Amino acid sequence: MYYINVDGLKKCYRKEVRGDTLKDTIKSLFKREYKEIKALNGISFTVEKGEMVGIIGPNGAGKTTLLKILSGVLYPDEGNVTIDGFVPWERKETFLNRISFFMGQRGFLGVTVWDIPPVDGFRLIKEIYGIDEESYGERVEGFSEILNVKHLLKTPLRKLSLGERTKVELIASLLHLPEFILLDEPTIGMDVISQKRIWDFLKEYNNETGATILITSHYTRDLEELGKRIIVLHKGKILFDGEKKQLQEKVKGMREFRVRCRDRNVKLPAEVYKWEGDTAVFNAPDGEVKKLAFTIAGIDGVIDIHIEDPAFEDVIRRVFKEADNEEVS
Ligand SMILES: Nc1ncnc2c1ncn2[C@@H]1O[C@H](COP(=O)(O)OP(=O)(O)OP(=O)(O)O)[C@@H](O)[C@H]1O
Ligand SMILES: [Mg+2]
Repeated sequence: MYYINVDGLKKCYRKEVRGDTLKDTIKSLFKREYKEIKALNGISFTVEKGEMVGIIGPNGAGKTTLLKILSGVLYPDEGNVTIDGFVPWERKETFLNRISFFMGQRGFLGVTVWDIPPVDGFRLIKEIYGIDEESYGERVEGFSEILNVKHLLKTPLRKLSLGERTKVELIASLLHLPEFILLDEPTIGMDVISQKRIWDFLKEYNNETGATILITSHYTRDLEELGKRIIVLHKGKILFDGEKKQLQEKVKGMREFRVRCRDRNVKLPAEVYKWEGDTAVFNAPDGEVKKLAFTIAGIDGVIDIHIEDPAFEDVIRRVFKEADNEEVS
């Protein structure tokens, strides 16, 4: 028996279709038209206790929907889920007490009063979960030390930056030491150093407590930080489920060059796969990035060069070509 069993999960949303014209708006007052969106279209996987799994995919892939179902916030249309024997949407208290669903800065503290400092919110959580004084003190101290927010615990929430708020929300969501944690894009909008702190913190938490952790992201660069196992979601289906190394092997050699040129007639020593205005976009193997950058910098008509990790949409397009052709209806 696995810790998490997900079998044939499907979820459709009904979205109202509206035109842009005044006529359309008036028409929609009398007759509403809906379109079905298959957010999850038959998802199955299992997870062992203590695993840390990264779920990645572009915008609209179904990541948040999947986490909402696993945390018991949302019912699926079809399929079964058990987590340590519990069915999440039955919302048994023993289950809810053992999990945490982290959605960035829209967490527990944010729904309380904005004028209160994090530490007051933490105290409230302590009471709700009946955490003893000693464990509470240790956890607040330890977590805020690693995340570097110790000096902010008495500052009203509304005075904290987005990244700082995310960090104190993360602490709030882990104070009861959950053994199953769902994190929806935990590092969004953070500077690189803060992101690193969060990743290190989660790995440490996973090591120390043996908690099972699922994390979503839509950045290719996060691959490095996510757990050993990666699930790639796209249009409500799983395109890849396996060792991160295997996926990294596929993504390798895909650094993306974005070269702004005087016009599209500038000759570049690479196969341009798309132009965005006067910016040429192409990929280069990792080993050739430096050489190519120097060569391009010397070409007449080149204005600017950016080298980035490829956008996830591009990874999907190139690595999983076949699957991308399937349209979601
Ligand atoms: N409440 C809703 N009503 C209608 N459609 C929805 C609703 N929530 C999500 N969707 C649609 O379902 C699909 C999957 O959405 P979901 O939020 O799960 O994707 P995601 O992978 O989390 O994307 P992102 O990276 O943008 O957060 C999208 O097409 C989205 O527009
Ligand atoms: Mg999402």
